[in-house]
Amino acid sequence: MFGKKKTQAPEIDKEQLELIKNAQKRIKQKKRLYAHFVVFLIGAVFLIVANLVLDIAKDVTFFGVDWFVYAILIWLFLFVYHLFNVFITSKLLSKNWEQKQLNQLVAKQKERIAELQKQVDKDYPLPTEKKTLAKTTKNSEITLIVAAGEDNAIGKDNDLIWHLSDDLKRFKSLTNGHHIIMGRKTFESFPKPLPNRTHIVITRQNNYQVPNGVIVVNNLDDAFDAARNDKQPFVIGGGEIYKQAMPFADTIELTRVHETFENADTFFPEVDKSAWKEVNKTFHDKDKKHQYAFSFITYKRT
Ligand SMILES: NC(=O)c1ccc[n+]([C@@H]2O[C@H](COP(=O)([O-])OP(=O)(O)OC[C@H]3O[C@@H](n4cnc5c(N)ncnc54)[C@H](OP(=O)(O)O)[C@@H]3O)[C@@H](O)[C@H]2O)c1
Repeated sequence: MFGKKKTQAPEIDKEQLELIKNAQKRIKQKKRLYAHFVVFLIGAVFLIVANLVLDIAKDVTFFGVDWFVYAILIWLFLFVYHLFNVFITSKLLSKNWEQKQLNQLVAKQKERIAELQKQVDKDYPLPTEKKTLAKTTKNSEITLIVAAGEDNAIGKDNDLIWHLSDDLKRFKSLTNGHHIIMGRKTFESFPKPLPNRTHIVITRQNNYQVPNGVIVVNNLDDAFDAARNDKQPFVIGGGEIYKQAMPFADTIELTRVHETFENADTFFPEVDKSAWKEVNKTFHDKDKKHQYAFSFITYKRT
């Protein structure tokens, strides 16, 4: 119980090791350059003394200039070449290398944030009772429509992780003619607005520019208000907006992709089975056009 604590070997991952090795190489390079400089100074003094004080090869001149001047100049040239190699052409800490390290660091941070987000969603689930909207007076059936992996993954790098043509077809047919409410990032992931749907984009930005016909609002409440004449407005993502809209929703149209996506960075909130009832489920196997098997599941609030 009170025995000595075992000391654990520190864990250094590959990237950190690479970073350390590069830093060590760089230090060695600079040390060698410094040593070269000191040897050069001593050597130059020695050559001057050898010639002028000790009279070694005193009579040897080239074009009227003492030999030691040429020797010092050649050595100086070699030193400048060394200096140039270390500070100008050295590839060790080039801009590309720095950028690579930065990208690796950012990717690691994103992974960590996604892990923490999952943990927070699990430990502190959103209230499952339906909330009522502040502004909307009319009763419309607010529907979340989403495709999510088994681990609730929905996206990575502001894009989808899969392409499932039958799921897109279903999305098109369900949302056709309706209002679609989305976060600014999801809107920006589209090449252009989708035809025959009224887009409502939520952003905190004051002057957010959008093509004609697209509605911009600054909070979720205003988004639902803008869709108040629609019997079934759809919330189409992404992760931030699903999380905020779930407490107001009546229906969830979920395409459950039967696969886990470990590199995802955006997630759908957990569907609380005590608050949501599965009313429909259709399985779709994988095939030539569909890389993963998936199920269309409809949930209604209990
Ligand atoms: N699999 C699916 O079915 C599906 C569907 C949709 C999207 N996705 C994926 O989800 C990812 C995008 O999701 P995301 O969570 O990163 O972003 P998002 O929810 O699409 O948008 C987030 C943005 O919405 C605005 N916003 C959020 N809450 C707000 C509030 N309360 N008031 C005002 N504005 C608010 C902010 O915009 P500003 O920063 O401009 O203020 C925020 O940056 C992408 O990878 C996309 O491909 C997947």
